Amino acid sequence: MLEKNPVIFIILAFVVIMIGTTITMIAPFKWINSDSDKIAEVKPYTPLQQEGRDLYMREGCNNCHSQTVRTLAADVERYGYGGTYSKSGEFIYDRPHLWGSRRTGPDLARIGLKYPDPRGAWHRKHMENPRSVVPASNMPAYAFLNKPLDTTYSERKMKLLKFPYTPADLDDLNGKTEMDALIAYMRKLGTDIPVKKSEVPVSAATARSNPFTDLKAVEEEAESLYKQHCASCHGGEREGTLGPALKGSARSESDLFKIISQGVEANGMPAFGTLLDEQKVWKLITYIKLDTK
Ligand code: HEC
Ligand code: HEC
Repeated sequence: MLEKNPVIFIILAFVVIMIGTTITMIAPFKWINSDSDKIAEVKPYTPLQQEGRDLYMREGCNNCHSQTVRTLAADVERYGYGGTYSKSGEFIYDRPHLWGSRRTGPDLARIGLKYPDPRGAWHRKHMENPRSVVPASNMPAYAFLNKPLDTTYSERKMKLLKFPYTPADLDDLNGKTEMDALIAYMRKLGTDIPVKKSEVPVSAATARSNPFTDLKAVEEEAESLYKQHCASCHGGEREGTLGPALKGSARSESDLFKIISQGVEANGMPAFGTLLDEQKVWKLITYIKLDTK
């Protein structure tokens, strides 16, 4: 019998294993990352974002955070932020990919859509001390990343990855800290893909008046919506932290509706029109207007 001859057995076993290896590990490289996977809007990383990505790996952020929105409706709703589930073309410039296999913290594939602030103020505060914005967070603090970024290999990395870059992109690295690079990377994630806009036009909604005039009836639900979506920037007591104080706001209800639905993204206020339906926005307004508690 063949298997009684160790040499022949080893050779045959090797051949069989190599067939499996070729089919599952080597051959796919022929058809992945092809042109048909490309999504025109998805752009390669800039040198600063690429440095941030390398720091993300160095610090092991991927051990707690996944970067892929699964096709499940619940996943899209929770982590999509107006985008759909993840497509292969979104990862075409990710070498290696950082999908991760564990969600101790939330998925970050679309995190750039959640905090659109160009100055990255939320990220900075959160990275320096996560508990200052999310009191129950068990994410470690990364204040030590406030040190100069090592740019020795930045240009070589861009060349190796064949990503386009300009001298201005390289100049942009001057004086940046590791924290800046990591935030630039966070702000890029998920922002290339087209996003679904809110279905209710704001003008139509603000033409109606707030249906929730009875504060007491909605207070409990509104308070929990507030804690979940707003407290990390406006403070647990609506006293204002990263964003202004909201308690007993003097703004008109239609003004408030507009700000909450459309956001003021350039100043760091995200748009909630896709995440929260009209009813929820009105409830939040009733809660904001409350000047007791
Ligand atoms: C020990 C696990 C752990 C590690 C390591 C970790 N995180 Fe987190 N992260 C969390 C948890 C838990 C949360 C949710 C609570 C919060 O927002 O702080 C979170 C939240 C976040 C959020 C906000 C997500 C949202 O939807 O609001 C960002 C951004 C983030 N982490 C980035 C990072 C980066 C960048 C690193 C690496 C430098 C990192 N995390 C490392 C556990 C972790
Ligand atoms: C990532 C941080 C962040 C989150 C989360 C956030 N906001 Fe804001 N918000 C801001 C910032 C920053 C401003 C100031 C914008 C400006 O100066 O134009 C602001 C402004 C506002 C204003 C206008 C206040 C004024 O008087 O000028 C309202 C109202 C508001 N936010 C409501 C909300 C509500 C309701 C939520 C939750 C659904 C929320 N915000 C979540 C950061 C945030």
